[in-house]
Parts: sequence; structure tokens; C-alpha cells
Amino acid sequence: MNLDEILHFRRSVRVYDKNKPLDTPRVRHCLELAALAPNSSNMQLWEFYHITDPTLMRKISHACLDQTATSTADQIVVFVTRQDLHRKRAQYVLDFEIGNIRRNSPEDRQAKRIKDRQLYYGKIMPLLYSRFFGLLGLFRQLITKTIGLFRSITRQVSESDVRVVVHKSCALAAQTFMIAMANEGYDTCPLEGFDSRMLRKVLQLPRGAEVNMVVSCGVRKGNEGIWGERCRVPFDQIYIEK
Ligand SMILES: Cc1cc2nc3c(=O)[nH]c(=O)nc-3n(C[C@H](O)[C@H](O)[C@H](O)COP(=O)(O)O)c2cc1C
Repeated sequence: MNLDEILHFRRSVRVYDKNKPLDTPRVRHCLELAALAPNSSNMQLWEFYHITDPTLMRKISHACLDQTATSTADQIVVFVTRQDLHRKRAQYVLDFEIGNIRRNSPEDRQAKRIKDRQLYYGKIMPLLYSRFFGLLGLFRQLITKTIGLFRSITRQVSESDVRVVVHKSCALAAQTFMIAMANEGYDTCPLEGFDSRMLRKVLQLPRGAEVNMVVSCGVRKGNEGIWGERCRVPFDQIYIEK
């Protein structure tokens, strides 16, 4: 399949064929590809829980309101955000980028580029991703509103804005995964119909983690697998050329 065909093949599948199991290493490889998704500031504040254990699958399916998309699935992937890991990830990216600059930048520009990265990942990222009962967000808004009087600036800096940023990036990883799966001829269904408290407990997630999306996986069961034809509003209602 070419990309056009893959995107047409991908449907949200609600009933999977129990007789067609998935190859676990291939699913894992699709998750490696998912990690190539673009993400805000390359902070990679995500984790992918690849569930193959039948007992755990049953518990997760129950937390997903016992939808057939999970109860008939062969495997399940849970995409989780980890905003709480922002310092660790920022340090990792900073260390990598310093090496990157040393390997790939002209010598006379290296010192300035390294200084810029140190400011960005060492100071700005920790300031942007830190949370404290909404107060740090208010502080950031005050700073950006003041600077914004004089120049253009990113204004989505409240604690809920940043949480959206983290979820947006994680959802791009989930979509990349679903496309990679379709490329293998495998089916998926993204779900947000779940009991997040129950799911957190089943997966034993740490406090700072949040479930972004559950993606069930398998091979569709004939015509039963999908709910009929694909519905999309006419393209001219959503396409605006200016
Ligand atoms: C964030 C998100 C949450 C979704 N949650 C559910 C869900 O809980 N249960 C379900 O059956 N489908 C769920 N879907 C699938 C959508 O219903 C589906 O993508 C939409 O109807 C379009 O169909 P298609 O994916 O076959 O093109 C979800 C999709 C997204 C992107």
C-alpha cells in the first residue's frame, strides 16, 4: 500500500478476528516508529504501555467500559503523558544537542548555539513545564502578557495550556502508531471512552502520569469489524484557502 491507500485502509475497528493474532515484535516496531512523531520542543513526555498479557488485557478492557474494540482485541497500547519527567527529558535532550552541535555545527557557531540550548532546555523548559496548583501558570501568564506588550510571544503558558501541549504531542505519537500499524495490515481503534481512575490503577501509573489514549489492536473481523462506510463532512466545509 502507498500512503494514500494506508490512510484509506485505517479505520476504527470495533470487532477483531480472534483467529488472527498479531506479531508482537512488529507491533513493538510500530511503537518505535511512533516515537519518531513530532512533539513540542522535542520533550518526548510520553510512555507507551504495550499490553499483551491476557489477564491485564481483560482488566484494561473492563476499564475501557468493556467496549468490543478492547474485549476482542489481540493487544492494547496505552499512550501515557509524563509531564512530571520534564526535567529528566530536558536534560537528556540538552546533552544530546550539545553533542549534536559539536558534531555538526561550524566551529565558530558552536559556543553560541550551545549557550542557546542551555538557556532553552536548562531554564525555559523547566519554567514552562513546572506545575504548582495553577500558580506557576499564572506567573508565566503575567510574564508573557508583559513581554507581549512589546513583541510577539507564545501565550499558551497556563498550567492547563501546557497540559494540552503535552497531550497534543502524545496524540501525534498515537496517530503515527496507527498509521504504522495500518502499513503492516494491522487494525487499531483509538479510545478515550475509559475510566481513567481504574486504568491508572490497573497500570500502576505514577502520580504525574496521565492516560492520553488507549489504542486497541488486532485484525478486523470481516464486515463486522467496522461500522459501515466512513463518514466525513464535505471537504469544502472544512477547507479554507486564503
Ligand atoms: C481521541 C479519540 C477517542 C475515541 N474514542 C473512541 C471510543 O471510546 N470508542 C470507540 O468506539 N471509538 C472511539 N474513537 C474512534 C472514532 O469514533 C473514529 O475515529 C471516528 O468515528 C472516525 O472513524 P474512522 O476512524 O473509522 O475514520 C475515538 C477516536 C479518537 C480520535
